[in-house]
Amino acid sequence: AERRPLIAGNWKMNGLRAAKSELRTVAAGLAGLSAETMICPPFTLIGAFAADVAGTQLMIGGQDCHPAESGAHTGDISAEMLRDAGAVAVILGHSERRIDHQEGDAIVKAKVKAAWRAGLLPVVCVGETLVERDAGEAAAVVTRQVRQSVPDGATAANLVVAYEPIWAIGTGRTPTTDDVAEVHGAIRHILGERFGAEANGIRILYGGSVKPDNAAALLATADVDGALVGGASLKAADFLAIARAV
Ligand code: G3H
Repeated sequence: AERRPLIAGNWKMNGLRAAKSELRTVAAGLAGLSAETMICPPFTLIGAFAADVAGTQLMIGGQDCHPAESGAHTGDISAEMLRDAGAVAVILGHSERRIDHQEGDAIVKAKVKAAWRAGLLPVVCVGETLVERDAGEAAAVVTRQVRQSVPDGATAANLVVAYEPIWAIGTGRTPTTDDVAEVHGAIRHILGERFGAEANGIRILYGGSVKPDNAAALLATADVDGALVGGASLKAADFLAIARAV
């Protein structure tokens, strides 16, 4: 299947306005890349960043959204607001949302529908804990999360899945490429059961301690269609090195 790799940077709760210089360095370094690239800054920077990269290949995404379009939800941001600010995508169900904000699969699924309603590309995150990994349950846990977090109607064009083993996030540890291939294969399988041939075009990213020195091996692994990069995405040179490893 034709799947154009996607390298997405998740800045998490990092970045003040001055970080625009880092963004510009990324945008200026994209010539000749085969991968699509995206930066997901905190909400406060989305409008300014989207305006700044307009006309470049770099896409801007959010890190979360509320399921509703508007209303009495103090502190929340809707998918329509992200879109209005210039975002084209949104990360949903990241483990830090699932853990810090008690988000379960049902709310993630509602947020995916909100993203579709607003015309955003959802990047749906799944991944097992270390306890689940050690119990041999990684593929089963991730399969269940995909089944329950992704609504009916997913296509190659409207869904990206990101596999992020929780124990690999920010730890410098990564699964073996065999383990990554096994879980990505399980994700492709459940997507195929639900969405038929569309599954062959849905991109499945790997995330968790992706760095310039391990990116090439991870990105060359079967069914890995890009990366969701946390810490290393904060440095333009590291993010570009990862994007060039495709
Ligand atoms: O969304 C990104 C991931 O949580 C990975 O973070 O690259 O800092 O391990 P990390």
